[in-house]
Amino acid sequence: MSKVTVFDHPLIQHKLSVMREKDTSSKEFRELVSEIAQLMCYEVTRDLPLEEVEIETPVAKAKVKRIAGKKLAVVPILRAGLGMVDGMLNMIPNAKVGHIGLYRDPETLEPVKYYCKMPTDVAERDIIIVDPMLATGGSAVAAITFMKEYGCSHIKLMCLIGAPEGVEKVQESHPDVDIYIAALDEKLNEHGYIVPGLGDAGDRIFGTK
Ligand code: PRP
Ligand code: URA
Repeated sequence: MSKVTVFDHPLIQHKLSVMREKDTSSKEFRELVSEIAQLMCYEVTRDLPLEEVEIETPVAKAKVKRIAGKKLAVVPILRAGLGMVDGMLNMIPNAKVGHIGLYRDPETLEPVKYYCKMPTDVAERDIIIVDPMLATGGSAVAAITFMKEYGCSHIKLMCLIGAPEGVEKVQESHPDVDIYIAALDEKLNEHGYIVPGLGDAGDRIFGTK
């Protein structure tokens, strides 16, 4: 069974609480999504392998640790996942970015794919899928399945808010994929929205409602 990490860091909790407020502007919402993604990236990349290299400081030779050239790809689920990309790239600037376009059919709540563009060597990369919302889990499961079809075998899922239903669905469908979330909320409502959640993440990031 995959590991679920819920972040309890005060900075993340504070920023998320501001995002949840219905009157927070798109500008502030967007900035907060990016800032939280950056903070979460710190923990999500904790297991990156290090290698020892020798350098010279102004004072002496020293053996120091550097990241061992691990190849990473950040894969946002469009649209809302786009809001998390800059925060991730601030921390891991050499990561490549692959895009998956999925929207949730408002009637069936099933994910519908409309776009995909991956780095050519994506199968050799460790993948971090990013999307602010893990609701029914349909979009995340489809995105993970899709990355596996591309040949990717090391995949993590990073979201801001998860519903218990979504976390369970991802764990059942992809027990090898660890899940990182900033909050585990109470439930889904009858429209498949996370309660209390923060509303429609894509609309709030891009100001489309
Ligand atoms: C939202 C969100 C996830 C999905 C989560 O995207 O960003 O991708 O819903 O729901 P699920 O877990 O039930 O699949 P949406 O479909 O609203 O598209 P958007 O990002 O373009 O607004
Ligand atoms: N997608 C969102 O943007 N918000 C939810 O609460 C559920 C799905």
